[in-house]
Amino acid sequence: MTHTLNNLTYCIHTFGCQMNKHDSERIAGMLEALGAYAVESIEEADVVVFMTCCVREAADTRLYGQVASMKNIPLRDGTPLNKRVIAVGGCIGQRDGDKLIETLPHLDIVFGTHNLASLPQLITDTLEEGGHHVEVKEASLSFPTDLPTSREHEWAAWLPITIGCNNFCTYCIVPYVRGREKSRTIEDIKQEAQRYVDAGVKEITLLGQNVNSYGRDLYGEPRFADILRSVNDTGIERLRFATSHPKDLTDEVISLFGTLPSLMPALHLPVQSGSNRILDAMNRRYTKEHYLGLVKKLRQINPEIALSTDIIVGFPGETEEDFMDTYNLVKEVGYTQVFTFIYSKREGTPAAAMVDDTPREVIQDRFDRLVELVQEQAYRENQKDLGKTIDVLVEGASKRDANLICAKSPKNVTVHAPLPEGIAIEDIVGTILKVHIDKAKTWYLSGQVVSL
Ligand code: SAH
Ligand code: SF4
Ligand code: F3S
Repeated sequence: MTHTLNNLTYCIHTFGCQMNKHDSERIAGMLEALGAYAVESIEEADVVVFMTCCVREAADTRLYGQVASMKNIPLRDGTPLNKRVIAVGGCIGQRDGDKLIETLPHLDIVFGTHNLASLPQLITDTLEEGGHHVEVKEASLSFPTDLPTSREHEWAAWLPITIGCNNFCTYCIVPYVRGREKSRTIEDIKQEAQRYVDAGVKEITLLGQNVNSYGRDLYGEPRFADILRSVNDTGIERLRFATSHPKDLTDEVISLFGTLPSLMPALHLPVQSGSNRILDAMNRRYTKEHYLGLVKKLRQINPEIALSTDIIVGFPGETEEDFMDTYNLVKEVGYTQVFTFIYSKREGTPAAAMVDDTPREVIQDRFDRLVELVQEQAYRENQKDLGKTIDVLVEGASKRDANLICAKSPKNVTVHAPLPEGIAIEDIVGTILKVHIDKAKTWYLSGQVVSL
């Protein structure tokens, strides 16, 4: 039986992708249900949870440094505890388990990606017995859907439709730390979406490592288009999803960008490389030509659709010619946003055994050239909204200027606009306003509110 955490404060530090962010919301929900309350800083927290990511090496190193430095942070004034509880969860927790405690002995709890629901118990065990508590399961038996959530924003919700991944791209550690792909039932997803809509949520983002293969394990065939239609039918205003594997993006799903009113005109479609040789070595199971074919179909359905992507530079064996294939593909597609990553070797993945002898400076130079192109393109794509009046979802005030609204366009681009006179930001957070765009920069648009 889990005890109460009354009067304890907690703080969750989240790294990595939306899956982790969503898991953190579930953890917050569980801790709050037991009486703990959230604080902003580690200094103020009795319980500190790190939700970790190991998709690239930089994240690993950072976590070890951060947990090590926790030793020097004094307890907060008035805490009922004589020792702060430190827990590490997420993907490094899943991968390293007990080993983390060998390196970081002042760590109290390690839990895996399939063990969210056990965290409150692990915390109370630590409070009562002291010592180390580790729980890392190989796989989840079911979806942790019945856990409460405490969402970051009232107007937006992430809704996981699958967990895990079956694709085994050769560079990627995710399938090893998140397990095999598992889908939630359509009923379950519909109900959660309806609950959000009834509670006033404006935007739902469906989540999965590859949402396009949703349902294969449950129904023997992908049923993602059905999910999009049923979530649209709940009356949600804005619907998005991430991530899509190009090999599984169907014509049916593409066509929904032309017919579903809530589906926002933005798609994140990770290409990883524009070289067929490298795509094959990455085990991506599509060609550059197939990918460009998808882009063409998407633009036929909606010429304005905003595309974004992920690219890895410096995969083992990448030549200048391979890189130029990627560069030219980016040029041809015209993305609003590209997440560019330098290849990072992950032990245990097939690519870790491949010959990787391209000099660091050569890879850095390719990376820099690509980033420059991406910026030019983002600037050019944003010009398309100049002079238009668009619907934006207000997220809050700008961090730098309290009189500036910070919002998101349908294409998911940041929009700034001065707060109209006599209006308080709290009154319009989470609402959709019309803004006339009079400036288009590389990473944001700005304009004037024309109607509330
Ligand atoms: N499931 C999603 C995202 C996975 S991780 C997808 O398939 O698109 C997010 C991104 O991290 C990947 O798209 C990839 O570009 C990048 N990534 C994954 N492993 C990496 C590695 N070993 N080195 C560098 N980047 C990597
Ligand atoms: Fe990793 Fe590939 Fe799965 Fe994405 S699809 S999580 S890149 S293995
Ligand atoms: Fe990172 Fe785990 Fe997501 S490794 S990218 S947090 S699935």
